[in-house]
Amino acid sequence: MKRLLLLLCVVLLSILSLNSIVEAKIRHYRWEVKYEFKSPDCFRKLVITINGRSPGPTILAQQGDTVIVDLKNSLLTENVAIHWHGIRQIGTPWADGTEGVSQCPILPGDTFRYMFVVDRAGTYLYHAHYGMQREAGLYGSLRVALPDGESEPFSYDYDRSIILNDWYHRSTYEQAAGLSSIPFVWVGDPQSLLIQGKGRFNCSTPLVTAGSCNATNPECSPYVFTVVPGKTYRLRIGSLTALAALSFEIENKSF
Ligand SMILES: *[C@@H]1O[C@H](CO)[C@@H](O)[C@H](O)[C@H]1NC(C)=O
Ligand SMILES: *[C@@H]1O[C@H](CO)[C@@H](O)[C@H](O)[C@H]1NC(C)=O
Repeated sequence: MKRLLLLLCVVLLSILSLNSIVEAKIRHYRWEVKYEFKSPDCFRKLVITINGRSPGPTILAQQGDTVIVDLKNSLLTENVAIHWHGIRQIGTPWADGTEGVSQCPILPGDTFRYMFVVDRAGTYLYHAHYGMQREAGLYGSLRVALPDGESEPFSYDYDRSIILNDWYHRSTYEQAAGLSSIPFVWVGDPQSLLIQGKGRFNCSTPLVTAGSCNATNPECSPYVFTVVPGKTYRLRIGSLTALAALSFEIENKSF
């Protein structure tokens, strides 16, 4: 009897400790999506923001965690859906965000709960999957760390996500109508390139409407992050350009 009890205790203990090792966390986010006037490259236009920001918040999780995003659509006249690019959605196809394929869109005023497991470590992006909302600023990063006890085959001190994007001053409606017109109306080159949502348009360019561009607006100060000499930084760089193909380099550095 004593031996049986001891065995039971050992089994119970090992189950408990195993549980604490593999215990996954829940990463809960509450997002409100809306249109706001922003000047990401000094030129003011309507941008779709998450909690007032574009790019939206970076989701930080660890392999095996469950991510929950309660998304409120405050766009007033547009539906919305978010796709979590690269996440396999095993067992949760309805959270994939491909509007019209795996989910009905989230209607204005509604809140939808995205809930899914991030089953593989890595660098991912999320973006709108309704109309051209991605090009209007609805996107962000999702970073999934390795489980405890596992490490990358390289070491670093700091970890940063950077998203590159091309930026057009015409509304996404104008762009979409042009692309589907006969004859085709070409949108042309982007007015700016954004690094983590910040770019620089020359406000003295002829034909810029007075008051719509302010070169001293802090919203369009360059994207800066401070580095400490001697430290190693991991940069996770993603591109969500609509049309431009970009190269990324750091001035005076070779890799
Ligand atoms: C901005 O545009 C004006 C007018 O075209 C030009 O004179 C000026 O050199 C430009 N500034 C920069 C920094 O490119
Ligand atoms: C431009 O932005 C700065 C900083 O926000 C502000 O002080 C200034 O009044 C603005 N200029 C115009 C013409 O709106």
